[in-house]
Amino acid sequence: MSNSLPLPDALGSLTRLNDWVRWGASRFNQAGLIFGHGSDNALDEAFHLVCHALHLPLELPAPYMDAHLTADECAAVHALLRQRIDTRQPAAYLTGTMWFAGLPFEVNPHVLVPRSPFAELISHHLAPWVTDAPARILDLCTGSGCIGIACALAFEDADVVLADLSDAALEVARRNVIKHDLGDRVRCVEGDLFTALRGEVFDLIVTNPPYVPTAEWQQLGAEYQQEPRMALDAGDDGMDCVARILHDAPAHLSDNGVLFCEVGGSQNEFEARWPDLPVTWAHFERGGDGIFVIDRASLAAYHTLHNEARHVR
Ligand SMILES: C[S@@+](CC[C@H](N)C(=O)[O-])C[C@H]1O[C@@H](n2cnc3c(N)ncnc32)[C@H](O)[C@@H]1O
Repeated sequence: MSNSLPLPDALGSLTRLNDWVRWGASRFNQAGLIFGHGSDNALDEAFHLVCHALHLPLELPAPYMDAHLTADECAAVHALLRQRIDTRQPAAYLTGTMWFAGLPFEVNPHVLVPRSPFAELISHHLAPWVTDAPARILDLCTGSGCIGIACALAFEDADVVLADLSDAALEVARRNVIKHDLGDRVRCVEGDLFTALRGEVFDLIVTNPPYVPTAEWQQLGAEYQQEPRMALDAGDDGMDCVARILHDAPAHLSDNGVLFCEVGGSQNEFEARWPDLPVTWAHFERGGDGIFVIDRASLAAYHTLHNEARHVR
């Protein structure tokens, strides 16, 4: 904390923890920050960062909100709140941690900040679609590894593969595997979608691939632009990766295997491109949308039908 810059004199009246949360929230709103990476408003985001700078838990008992900070603590809190405004980095990149499915994950700007509604599905063991515990699970486009690692902890006998094209993302995923003490049960594989997984078959494939149309990606606010472009931008209609996943998934699913794929706000683009693909859309109690489910047999039958139709034409 003593490395922080001295506090400007004008801020000398801010002495208590709740003064700093209030000041941070006011400055965040004034600066037009965007909140979509864990908190959805300025007060929660400021509270989160103030607690981080003070090495305090987020479950802080109310009386401590009135606690007076030392001069060094005020300087450290000020520096972190200013960093959020000046860099427009999502708070998780500044703290280095994001919670997902009740678990802490290391994050840095090489990985998307975890926020997928997959967390809710995993908390229900992907029921009702997954009935028998899967022996082999693939998390394709794994980023920090959050979805695959949460699955590994939910299905404790499963072998899990975390795959991503980004070596830098996989380094983060590897550290998260160690953080959650998963040993050899979880393996990280670098490659372009299924290319490094030739011959491998899974009972469950979970994937949150890039799915943002390029024109939409270009309009995203500054915080989202800090995330890797390859984690979001997926071509004209956002379906570049999804199309390849749908094409290749049957060869990598066991007979009773199931594919869960997130397309988020691009559900319309998905339905425009595959209007008669028999997918089921998951429903969420805690918010979120855009995850579809399809089993191997239905996906393979769809491909067969469409290939035959193409030959007839
Ligand atoms: C939307 S992020 C999802 C990250 C993580 N699963 C999550 O939910 O937080 C998409 C991920 O796909 C990876 N990716 C992009 N193109 C890929 C490709 N062709 N093959 C494999 N991974 C790819 C990116 O590096 C990024 O980590």
